[in-house]
Amino acid sequence: MVTTPLLPSDYLDLVSPLRAGADLCGRIEAVHSETDDAATVVIRPGRGWRGHTAGQYVRIGVDVDGVRLWRAYSITSPTNRRDGRVTITVKAIPDGKVSNHLVRRAKPGTLIQLDQPTGDFVLPRAKPAKVLYLTAGSGITPVMGMLRDIELDDVVMVHCAPQPQDVIFRKELHGLVADKKLRLTEVHTDTDGKLDIARLDELVPDWAERETWACGPAGLLDAAEEHWTEQGVQEHLHTERFRPSIAVVAGDGGEVTFNATGKTIDADGATPLLDIGEAAGVLMPSGCRMGICFGCVTPLKAGAVRDLRTGEITEAAPGVLIQTCVSAAAGPCDIER
Ligand SMILES: Cc1cc2nc3c(=O)[nH]c(=O)nc-3n(C[C@H](O)[C@H](O)[C@H](O)COP(=O)(O)OP(=O)(O)OC[C@H]3O[C@@H](n4cnc5c(N)ncnc54)[C@H](O)[C@@H]3O)c2cc1C
Ligand code: FES
Repeated sequence: MVTTPLLPSDYLDLVSPLRAGADLCGRIEAVHSETDDAATVVIRPGRGWRGHTAGQYVRIGVDVDGVRLWRAYSITSPTNRRDGRVTITVKAIPDGKVSNHLVRRAKPGTLIQLDQPTGDFVLPRAKPAKVLYLTAGSGITPVMGMLRDIELDDVVMVHCAPQPQDVIFRKELHGLVADKKLRLTEVHTDTDGKLDIARLDELVPDWAERETWACGPAGLLDAAEEHWTEQGVQEHLHTERFRPSIAVVAGDGGEVTFNATGKTIDADGATPLLDIGEAAGVLMPSGCRMGICFGCVTPLKAGAVRDLRTGEITEAAPGVLIQTCVSAAAGPCDIER
């Protein structure tokens, strides 16, 4: 009664936001520049943090201009870091709200929301004899988490970036090469052009025998999946996508009501409800933004939505949940946000 209308935990959040039992939070303790447009963010997770496996990612909720936005970032620190802190490494993309905020404006001391780490882009328990890491741009991040965590006998890496100075973690990678822990080929796309996947025969002649982890833009991953499939070795290829590769199946839109906030917006049939809500200032949880993490699920109270990946229509009924990142309005609809 003394604390009404707030709860006692609301006051505790003010003095001890990282305590056990609070919603999982983290505190940004440092931001280190890596390249002109990439930075590593050092985070101290709160008490409930369960730890990660190398290669996994974490969803973080960050306040940008007063709006809580959720994004997923691969963890780049090793699992055995003594001080209990974890790092993510973010590349600012043109017009990117969260990435530019984290790289250019995030300040030590800032509290962020965290989710438990997740993802299956990880090494198997039994160490593979020969590994290839195929990465480009910020796609190096989950692989750096693995390189820092687990020493393997025979590791080759092919990494693409526009120029040498754009290679994130370049100094550390060259240190591993000098210590004979890694064989590295850098492809500088400004001078060499985009990597033609067929060049792997020349760069890594035994690529087909290697267990491969690939992360980078859709073009590289699509080409790799095609190439590995053509050679009949697709079971050796593991990929991580930072953006969806889905072709959008659009249809008619409709009026969307966010009933908890009382906002009503006219939506087209091709824009995810997540984007519609965020643009209207509605608090929308999310993570991967491509239908894999279920961080955006929300009850559909009325009307219908279309799954942008398949065109499938879901109609409201008690207990029906939708993934707002891959659902668009299919006529008028009402969602609980
Ligand atoms: C599993 C997973 C792990 C990830 N790990 C990392 C990581 O370690 N480091 C990292 O920097 N990013 C990572 N990402 C991408 C990250 O979650 C964000 O998508 C990215 O930072 C852009 O967010 P934003 O708010 O800046 O851009 P937004 O404001 O959401 O988008 C701005 C514009 O950029 C486009 N866009 C969105 N994402 C990308 C992208 N990745 N590349 C190019 N254009 C894009 C949008 O279509 C839009 O036009 C990961 C994503 C996933 C799903
Ligand atoms: S944000 Fe990950 S499934 Fe929607």
